[in-house]
Amino acid sequence: MTARIVPILPETIALAAEILGEGGLVAIPTETVYGLAADAANPEAVSRIYEAKGRPRFNPLIAHVSSWEMAEREAAFSPLARQCGEAFWPGALTLVLPAQAGGQVSDLARAGLETLALRWPKHKAAAALITVFGRPLVAPSANRSGHVSPTRAEHVEADLGKRIDLILDGGPCEVGMESTILGFDAGGPVLLRPGGIATAQIAELLGRPVCHAADADAISAPGQLKSHYAPKARLRLNAEKAEDGEGFLTFGPGQTGGLNLSPTGDLVEAASKLFAVLRALDARYERIAVGPIPETGLGEAINDRLQRAAHRED
Ligand code: TXA
Ligand code: MG
Repeated sequence: MTARIVPILPETIALAAEILGEGGLVAIPTETVYGLAADAANPEAVSRIYEAKGRPRFNPLIAHVSSWEMAEREAAFSPLARQCGEAFWPGALTLVLPAQAGGQVSDLARAGLETLALRWPKHKAAAALITVFGRPLVAPSANRSGHVSPTRAEHVEADLGKRIDLILDGGPCEVGMESTILGFDAGGPVLLRPGGIATAQIAELLGRPVCHAADADAISAPGQLKSHYAPKARLRLNAEKAEDGEGFLTFGPGQTGGLNLSPTGDLVEAASKLFAVLRALDARYERIAVGPIPETGLGEAINDRLQRAAHRED
């Protein structure tokens, strides 16, 4: 049986909450990418997520909340962390913080870590569902492990339709790129994954540089496997032009003859289209040439995903 795809309505939010309460899996739209949601407090439901995604067990999940009260029950906020949450929540920022002893998120969802990744999504349906449900939902991106993240309900259906209970269809995701993950060590903020909020914006808010995980002491995002977001096709990065038989992914004005992430050179637009365009090219080509994309703003996150998509173990 394939999961039902339903529009966002009060009835379907109630149905989703009921399924989640019974330990089921529901794909939900967020402003970044679609998430595969389960009751964070139910270890059986959490383990169903790992199974449906085919995800390595050691990879911890993000718990999604919809209020400060819910967030503070789960994790301890330093003044810096609170400043980030106040500026960017609800939104595309995930904060890795010390987990509270009285929190509801299961050990399994945290993969046994002492820390917890928390995000308050901006998408109205996601926030409404968490509020109706009354406690945090864990939600990794709703794709099979290693596949490209879904930015439309049909992507979720193609990847996971037979393995989950319901898909809430909120249309295309506005940001189209996973959240930025920020941790903190003794020295201050540490970037664990570039994403939908540009690193420079965080540094500007805090008035101090954001250190990259590779340069930080003991902290890292366990899920940041080198080969991730992998299409079937081989990617050739920083290509000036496509060769015979190659698909062409381009960016910016004057770039014709391929699929252009943003003909006007807008990195926000490019981020929102990246995964859908990668999927479209992957369906048609065995090799994809990718034109250069600047490293500024959201370009950092876009290039990070493209490098992972290009990386092959073989
Ligand atoms: O935009 C997003 O963040 C989407 C939407 C659905 O919210 N979710 C998402 O989740 O991208 P996922 O599971 O695909 O990626 C979560 C990342 C993983 O790389 C994981 O290793 C890292 O977060 N992570 C989770 N808990 C962590 C922790 N305690 N410490 C460090 N990294 C953590
Ligand atoms: Mg993912």
